[in-house]
Amino acid sequence: MSYKIALNFEDGITKFIDADESESIADAAYRQGINVPLDCTNGVCGTCKAFCQSGEFDAGSYIVDALSDAEAAAGYVLCCQAKAKSDMVIDILTSSGACKVKPRDTMAEIVKVEALSAHRIRLSIKPLEGALPMFLPGQYINVTAPNATAKRPYSFTSAPGADVATFLIRNVPGGKMSAYLAARAQTGDRLALNGPFGSFYLRAPRRPILFLAGGTGVGPILSMLEYLAARGADGQPVRLVYGVRDDADLVEVERIEALKARIPNFAYDTTCSGRGSRHPRTGHVTDHFSAGVLNNGNVDVYLCGPPEMVESGRQHVANFGLLPANIHFEKFAPPNEALAV
Ligand SMILES: Cc1cc2nc3c(=O)[nH]c(=O)nc-3n(C[C@H](O)[C@H](O)[C@H](O)COP(=O)(O)OP(=O)(O)OC[C@H]3O[C@@H](n4cnc5c(N)ncnc54)[C@H](O)[C@@H]3O)c2cc1C
Ligand code: FES
Repeated sequence: MSYKIALNFEDGITKFIDADESESIADAAYRQGINVPLDCTNGVCGTCKAFCQSGEFDAGSYIVDALSDAEAAAGYVLCCQAKAKSDMVIDILTSSGACKVKPRDTMAEIVKVEALSAHRIRLSIKPLEGALPMFLPGQYINVTAPNATAKRPYSFTSAPGADVATFLIRNVPGGKMSAYLAARAQTGDRLALNGPFGSFYLRAPRRPILFLAGGTGVGPILSMLEYLAARGADGQPVRLVYGVRDDADLVEVERIEALKARIPNFAYDTTCSGRGSRHPRTGHVTDHFSAGVLNNGNVDVYLCGPPEMVESGRQHVANFGLLPANIHFEKFAPPNEALAV
């Protein structure tokens, strides 16, 4: 049995697909040339989350990190898992343009690996030939280390189209990719890339923007800020609160300061939550903005960092009455052990 599904995109465009009851909504969309956001295809990452306005469906199987019970109860679905059981209307939480940014394989080589602190690594890479894949500011790419010893998603910190792409990577004790980058990686090493992916990307600035970054979660926000510096923010105020635990891990602040000079009406605060911090501002990112910054809900909030920081940030702004559609987030979740290389 086949059903009609209307896919509403954020830019107001609606596309119609047919979906068989035996295929996922994502499979049906790809079969008909619509590349809805997709990554793991396994109900693990949450990249394919969408909002079901109407219709019956079988939600499929997934983990709660990808789709929480509250989100499922509110009507959200994972397109890689859900199968239609009637005609449906689904809001895809991305623009139709983003669905044309196709993931592809690219070979790249390391230009530089820098230890910014004991727990922070800056990785710079360039393509072996041609150009790096085009991406939307905020998106990520899967990076495979030489000899396929580890494959992990990392968010670009550079602007789309830059000749050299940069990433800010947490050096996780005992981590496979961390061990490679911290101890063995050298200029000229070859890395296999696949991407870009993700629905955490900068939307057209139509209202004030609040960025909340925890740890290396500042990475994709740097890419968004680079983009705003190059293209402008349409006069909208832009605010960043960037928090880390240890003072030494408050990296890339000089870069943010330089971006401040290029983005009119951009302000930022940094905070350190670790005990014994000597930073002038302490506590979590949510301690450092007032209700006024949320502009009675007329604001786009972008949240990125460790899962628990993102979850508490979402709760915090939701308590001020913000709609889920105005809250964009990415959790830097560790890989599912069963699937990880
Ligand atoms: C969409 C997406 C984008 C991401 N972008 C970035 C990025 O730009 N920069 C970045 O640093 N990371 C990013 N991550 C996380 C990154 O992909 C890896 O999970 C992380 O770097 C650890 O990899 P590893 O191989 O060093 O450690 P692993 O070998 O995967 O893990 C070693 C051990 O540490 C635990 N662990 C791993 N990560 C964490 C964590 N964050 N908190 C607590 N325990 C952990 C694991 O469960 C495991 O027990 C992103 C994740 C996602 C899903
Ligand atoms: S692509 Fe659907 S949860 Fe990852």
